[in-house]
Amino acid sequence: LGPLSVPVPRCTEPPFRIVLSYPRESKEYAKRIVEQLMRLGVHALVFNIGSTRVGEVTILGKGHKAVVVLGESRFGRVACKIRRTDAVRDTLAHEAELLRRANAVGVGPRLYAASEDVLIMAYVEGEPLVKWLQSAEATQIRRVLATLLHQCYRLDQIGIDHGELSDPKEHVIVTGDGRPVIIDFESASVQRRPRNLTAITQFLILRPGAVSQHVRRVLDVANVQEVLSCLRAYKNAPSEPTFKQLLLHLGLETENQELKNKV
Ligand SMILES: Nc1ncnc2c1ncn2[C@@H]1O[C@H](COP(=O)(O)OP(=O)(O)O)[C@@H](O)[C@H]1O
Ligand SMILES: [Mg+2]
Repeated sequence: LGPLSVPVPRCTEPPFRIVLSYPRESKEYAKRIVEQLMRLGVHALVFNIGSTRVGEVTILGKGHKAVVVLGESRFGRVACKIRRTDAVRDTLAHEAELLRRANAVGVGPRLYAASEDVLIMAYVEGEPLVKWLQSAEATQIRRVLATLLHQCYRLDQIGIDHGELSDPKEHVIVTGDGRPVIIDFESASVQRRPRNLTAITQFLILRPGAVSQHVRRVLDVANVQEVLSCLRAYKNAPSEPTFKQLLLHLGLETENQELKNKV
């Protein structure tokens, strides 16, 4: 069964209705979503792409707060994040605002448009970081991790705490052309003290397990204590010098230089 492109107005009918009003199927709610999708410039939803099953179709993804479906729109192919009927928050406005701020420093999928219950953003085609790490080459891994640490540093700098980077399961995707993209700013906050860089570094390097073992081997990190003290210094004084010191100890400062030259 190949991808199935369905005009948005038809999505209030089964078997698509449950996707637009998950998990409590409701024609009324689905109609509301259809109106918002149309208003935001989405004319069709594409099912049977992605590996998350909802009823009789598959979609890009599903979390505790939303479902994500591929869409065809005036912006081209997009990911449509649709608020679940049982979501704790009653709008996606908070996430839209934080994603917009993250976009301003080059982080996250580009946000094209947003309404109460729908976000229209760039479709990120790739693999979750942890899965990608298992088969990627060392040079690729170094480049992707350097870019990812820079993104976390920039988020720290603008005062946004992503909130889920200490265990980023599905929340960092590496694209086919080797770009890490941090997704899901639903749990992000400007109230908490940002700890994106320390969270991701702890996950990648320090937390015991297969992931950190692999990453430490690729980066040739012999002295974990040094990384730890770099992180402490950064925690105490998040700044360019303490960030650079961490990169240095991870052997990623030259990747940094390469990135700089490319810009
Ligand atoms: N822009 C995107 N492009 C492709 N897939 C996405 C995109 N955003 C989310 N997804 C997929 O949908 C899943 C759920 O999205 P997420 O934003 O985490 O929702 P929730 O806020 O409910 O946790 C993600 O784990 C991912 O697999
Ligand atoms: Mg999520």
